[in-house]
Amino acid sequence: MKNRIFYTSLFVILAVIVSCDNKVGLVPKKAEPLPAGACDSIRYTNATKAIFDNECVSCHSGPFGSGGVDLTTYSSVLSQVTNGRIKDRITNINNPMPPFGLLPQSKIDSILCWMDKGGPQ
Ligand code: HEC
Repeated sequence: MKNRIFYTSLFVILAVIVSCDNKVGLVPKKAEPLPAGACDSIRYTNATKAIFDNECVSCHSGPFGSGGVDLTTYSSVLSQVTNGRIKDRITNINNPMPPFGLLPQSKIDSILCWMDKGGPQ
């Protein structure tokens, strides 16, 4: 009897701890790593522009974009690449961009590998 109470309380305590630490809604929906060699062909015009347009531009458009960040043109995106802000925010589970949860892993990987190459147009 005592044991049962002990284990029940332990379960409840663990459940509370786990649920407090649960960021399921924020982690990338599905881990789909980039196919081998895919990075080589990634450029702004053929790959990352579509990601920024679909995932970011709704909030980051023009001089008054959220956080003062404009992601509508190649040069404006590149300036955010250079200052490191994009890299931080698209991988930061505690401060994610988009704010409602990180992108699917394949899109994060595409942007990261593109930035590692210096963000070619
Ligand atoms: C729903 C609106 C929304 C979407 C979609 C969104 N952002 Fe943001 N973003 C914000 C807001 C609001 C801020 C300013 C507050 C903050 O920094 O959290 C911001 C700030 C930023 C900053 C500045 C961060 C800093 O540390 O100065 C960057 C970079 C950024 N977003 C990149 C992105 C990228 C890349 C995407 C797409 C993958 C994206 N955002 C999608 C709303 C959004």
